[in-house]
Amino acid sequence: MPNAPVPEQMPATPLQVQHRASLRDHNSFGLPAVAQTLVRITSEADVRRVVDHPEYGLARQFILGGGSNVVLTRDLDAVVLKVEIAGRRLVEETPEGRLVEFGAGESWHGAVAWTISNGWPGLENLALIPGSMGASPVQNIGAYGVELKDRFHSLDAVDLVTGRSVTLNATDCRFGYRDSVFKQQGFGGLAGKSLITRVRLWLPRPWQPVLGYQDIERKMAETGNSSPDAQTVFDWVCAIRRAKLPDPAVIGNAGSFFKNPVVTEEQCRDIIGRDPEVVHYPLPDGSIKLAAGWLIDACGWKGKTVGRAGVYDKQALVLVNRGGASGAEVVTLARAIQESVYGRFGIRLEPEPIIL
Ligand code: EPU
Repeated sequence: MPNAPVPEQMPATPLQVQHRASLRDHNSFGLPAVAQTLVRITSEADVRRVVDHPEYGLARQFILGGGSNVVLTRDLDAVVLKVEIAGRRLVEETPEGRLVEFGAGESWHGAVAWTISNGWPGLENLALIPGSMGASPVQNIGAYGVELKDRFHSLDAVDLVTGRSVTLNATDCRFGYRDSVFKQQGFGGLAGKSLITRVRLWLPRPWQPVLGYQDIERKMAETGNSSPDAQTVFDWVCAIRRAKLPDPAVIGNAGSFFKNPVVTEEQCRDIIGRDPEVVHYPLPDGSIKLAAGWLIDACGWKGKTVGRAGVYDKQALVLVNRGGASGAEVVTLARAIQESVYGRFGIRLEPEPIIL
């Protein structure tokens, strides 16, 4: 029967649900917290099953990707949707570029490594960023002169109220510095309203390496290689990150804990007047980005420990779990840092991870 109709109702695969699930292994800080209900999402159909579910569909929900950008300070009574949608493929290859697609549950670094090993350059500067593919657009991850938005094509998401699928392009995502529509509440914001299922990235041809960042320039000088291929840039970025950022598998952390603050030229002049060394980068719109790591370091925090939380000894922008820390301890340390940076520079540092 080659033309047999597809049955209207496919037999429903049950949702994978866990009650009172420990989240300690699901957050890169390694903080203790329990989810009353944790649902593993392995397909778009699973998201619809949650939306249609008499209990979970109406409950408060929290979307968890790789857990590399959250600080859990308490148990969660929301239904935690743990995104584990797999898959990666080359969608199209033209003389202008390559379109690659990934399930939201794929690891970001695994995806980068896969493209590089296939000889498809473009993501090498973003190597070793922790977290999942689905989380990458949420905060528009970036490193060494490249941001996700520079390689973004589109994404698929499911509306958590209606169960409808949508495809969003870069404009719809409203990307900003470590920001997107998925972090925004209020009018048009999609924070907590929409679950990203698939992400497509565009790798333009011919490949143009991005080598302007100081750490990469240093590698070029050290090796005498001023025209590295993508694999070499990938290896350099991995080495740079391993040298100054802690591996979350060994020391719990969430990468940069604060955003680099942006100030007016006048504010910056005032700070330079008092601290001529302050690391700052002029932005195209005339404002100035300050290195939060430098500000924190200047206040003497590098390597310090408060309770069981601490400031990483090689990079003051990274807070770490010294072993057995609670989310409250991390937040207490973060507040103390914010206060001292405000006291000395008059600048309010804004946390980068989501604090729950
Ligand atoms: N600095 C200090 N002391 C410190 C830390 C930094 O003086 O303890 C100075 C450095 O010497 C440098 C400047 O501050 O001159 C900036 O530091 P770095 O180059 O390490 O970069 P960053 O601004 O700290 C940002 C991103 C990282 C990204 C790197 C590389 C933010 C908040 N962080 O860090 O992203 O990997 O640039 O592009 O934008 C993340 O978001 O989790 C993350 C790790």
